[in-house]
Amino acid sequence: MEKKTLLTGDRPTGPLHIGHYFGSLVNRVAMQSDYETFIMVADVQALTDNFSSPERVRENVMEVAIDNIAAGLDPKQSTLFIQSQIPQIAELTVFYSNLVTVNTLRRNPTVKAEIAEKRELFGQEGESVTFGFLGYPVSQAADITFCRAHVVPVGEDQLPMIELTREIVERFHRIYNCDIFPLPQAKLSESPRIMGLDGSSKMSKSLNNAIYLKDNPEETMEKIKSAKTDSGTTIEFNPRTRPEISNLVLIYSLIHNQNPKDVASELKHNTYSDFKIKLAQDLNRYLRPIREKRLELESKPHYIKEILEMGRSKALNKAEETLKLVREAMKINY
Ligand code: TRP
Repeated sequence: MEKKTLLTGDRPTGPLHIGHYFGSLVNRVAMQSDYETFIMVADVQALTDNFSSPERVRENVMEVAIDNIAAGLDPKQSTLFIQSQIPQIAELTVFYSNLVTVNTLRRNPTVKAEIAEKRELFGQEGESVTFGFLGYPVSQAADITFCRAHVVPVGEDQLPMIELTREIVERFHRIYNCDIFPLPQAKLSESPRIMGLDGSSKMSKSLNNAIYLKDNPEETMEKIKSAKTDSGTTIEFNPRTRPEISNLVLIYSLIHNQNPKDVASELKHNTYSDFKIKLAQDLNRYLRPIREKRLELESKPHYIKEILEMGRSKALNKAEETLKLVREAMKINY
């Protein structure tokens, strides 16, 4: 039977951290043999809120590509490519923009939350939000459909984007009387979100609370030793009442592929500081092969460029196949 198609991607705004690793990289690596897999480095989307820092986005395109390959993405099986190199995605975005109302975009909960976070960029009340940022979910629908993806592995915050994509697909088929795209389905990661080491809800570069795949073992040890914890004396897994220590237990459970409750009862009588040291040592041991691969890849930029070039060519073929159908349906195949 022909394989179904999978697409997902990351914004290159920083190197990937262990939250990305356990939340998405592990899944995509496990799924790549069952699906025709497209992994996008979403540089155009990263520019929607980093348009003034193109050098930052550019640097991180390489970092994110390297992180994916080091984590086990196999360039022979999977297509790893850069969004801006596929102009058909921009073309689809323009076509889809007729099928989405501005009010729908304004109501998108993920976009709303991001606008509220980015006051400096988009104003106190979001009054200065750009056309590009408000519209990036439309561009994301183009990301998903240019390769006619069936499955989109994502975190929960991305569900509104997949829902919008489904609406666009249905509307497109109805209006242009065709049946080009599968209705894409989100595939949620099973592992819960890892919080920042400072207790904030997300690991993020700007908060300096993340452990990156590219960190060295000493940095990792320091970060875990200084991770925020409560003043309790026993290890427990109860994310609601004791979020910080539970987050460390969660990380431990992911490395050891154990249930976090079992980890907590097993390690209950360790002091926080002994537990932190053990966690850091085990995490460093776990990440060692990925970090070694990463160092090797960093020393071979030509090899990474070749992989991205191969990805571009495969993605372009697929995109042109889709756009032929789309232009025909829209009667602009002159
Ligand atoms: N919006 C996603 C994020 O912030 C990244 C992304 C861009 C994406 N295009 C995509 C994810 C297409 C899934 C499918 O993480």
